[in-house]
Amino acid sequence: MKKLFAVLLALALMLSAVSAMADTLTIATSPDFPPFEYLDPAAGEAPVGIEIDILNLICEKLGMELQIEQMDFEAVLPGVKAGKFDLGVSGISVTDQRKKNALFTDPYCLAAQAIVVVEGSPITSKADLDGKKISVQTGTTAETFCMKNFYDVSPFAANADAELALVNGKVDAWVIDDLTAADMVKVYNAEHDVKLVILDDAMTTEPYAFAMAKGQEELQSKLNEALHELLDAGTIQEIFAKYEAPYTAPEAAE
Ligand code: ARG
Repeated sequence: MKKLFAVLLALALMLSAVSAMADTLTIATSPDFPPFEYLDPAAGEAPVGIEIDILNLICEKLGMELQIEQMDFEAVLPGVKAGKFDLGVSGISVTDQRKKNALFTDPYCLAAQAIVVVEGSPITSKADLDGKKISVQTGTTAETFCMKNFYDVSPFAANADAELALVNGKVDAWVIDDLTAADMVKVYNAEHDVKLVILDDAMTTEPYAFAMAKGQEELQSKLNEALHELLDAGTIQEIFAKYEAPYTAPEAAE
């Protein structure tokens, strides 16, 4: 009898461990992408940002516990596809190519690729990029865009290294999403005499969303419901304002 009780107890413990696991939402993120996800020294280098705020609120709504896994951007989508993580949260642009390998939530904002150069550069618009050396982050839409245009592309696993390549004169321009460009350039310019400049030439229109493995339709609809509640309540817009980032609604693309 005692033995049976012990077995039952062990079973009950195992079951509760399994259900506790089911309540965790593990996200894959590359926290080198302010204001969406970056490491905050004031928070002990914990990841913070617009998307971390959004995910915290979504998890609150769904009664789930948020678990954050950090990695290079190029590892995010493959990891999600392989089922290692529940959700890719990394300023991910929805593209037809990516839709072949992943499920996406509805988009929650719009972004664009921007060109960053050093002040005084002869490059003043997209037309000047031909034949130029350009840094990008590996695996991003910036990389795809630059390759499609046959630019001389230098990919870097970390966003900060793509920026550094420009600063050190290893490349002529750096192509990166507009809001992150604005954030990183502002920080750089506050600390340096030679200034970086973002050219006024938005090259693409890219909706951001969160990515899941194929077959996760149930999670997708739960996330969409929570996301739309946040959008309808104006909460997403408020979060952008908190990070001083201009907000563009995804409908603007349609
Ligand atoms: N939006 C771009 C893309 O989807 C860049 C994302 C980079 N994200 C990051 N966390 N470093 O490819």
